[in-house]
Amino acid sequence: MRKSRNKRLLEKVAELVLPPHERKYLMKRMDVIGDIAIIKIDPAIEHKKHEIGKTIIELQPSIRVVLRQVGPTSGVYRTKQLEWIAGEKRTWTIVREYGCAFKVDLKYVFYTPRLSYEHMRIAKLVRPGEVVINMFSGVGLFSILIAKYALPKRVYSIDINPKAYELMVENIRMNKVQDKVIPICDDAADAILRRGLVYVADRILMPLPALALYYLPFALLALTRNGGYIHTYLHVFSRKGSNPKDIAKYAISQALSCLGIRFKIVNIRKVRSVGVRQLQMVVDVWCSGLKDDLSLSLLSKGEPNTYPY
Ligand SMILES: C[S@@+](CC[C@H](N)C(=O)[O-])C[C@H]1O[C@@H](n2cnc3c(N)ncnc32)[C@H](O)[C@@H]1O
Repeated sequence: MRKSRNKRLLEKVAELVLPPHERKYLMKRMDVIGDIAIIKIDPAIEHKKHEIGKTIIELQPSIRVVLRQVGPTSGVYRTKQLEWIAGEKRTWTIVREYGCAFKVDLKYVFYTPRLSYEHMRIAKLVRPGEVVINMFSGVGLFSILIAKYALPKRVYSIDINPKAYELMVENIRMNKVQDKVIPICDDAADAILRRGLVYVADRILMPLPALALYYLPFALLALTRNGGYIHTYLHVFSRKGSNPKDIAKYAISQALSCLGIRFKIVNIRKVRSVGVRQLQMVVDVWCSGLKDDLSLSLLSKGEPNTYPY
């Protein structure tokens, strides 16, 4: 297999900065997001971190900032713990996907280049005139690409993180889709219940595995009475001999059956690896709307949601 450009660069950095016995500690992977590189550095070579960062910039001048990831993606906002190690002192950058520009601030919001294919895959599924709800939109990538590449009537783009909302507003303006994308800063379930999003959507995106099954009843409540498509993202463990597609299919089928929904799974695919034997999967499923008694019980729900993390 051919080595990636980033891997070759890191090998060169190791040769230049580290003595042979320490080279094994330099991680083999580097994410480049806009003009920011993110790497992990083993504590054994921590004393060389600034030199490592500076050498990355010298070898690849399109990189202007190097950040070290010091903890996993975590918390409600799904952010990375990052430490500055070289270059300009900032954590924001501009990323480009399919001709659109997006401002992200990696300290405060979620972004991964590994969802890029998925963003466009979903945009291509949207049919003219659809109303779409993106329940966990981050800085608006799915929403804005749908507005640019499909002909939706409207995309409601919800995120609970005020900083993600602020950047999403900027990105909507930057990509000139103000007439299509409505940004909302709120909990997704509360937004559906209290901002007139009940029975309005033809398609719902749920790109947050931690909440996807838990918030499924609210997604169903937002579908038109004729039903529509839901794209649910899930994390599954793939043990030897198990099929991750079967696991994802089982989880969604159980959840929808319990709610008495008629449904048809139209596609299941692996989106990306998210850890050792842990995969992110997406299930595209057509669903009928919620039955009236369940809708009423959700609509009469007075308390804000409690989060399972
Ligand atoms: C995995 S990220 C979304 C990624 C984004 N769709 C993209 O394509 O880059 C999940 C997002 O859900 C948001 N979030 C977490 N809990 C939420 C909730 N209860 N309601 C709405 N958004 C929420 C987080 O702030 C985060 O931006």
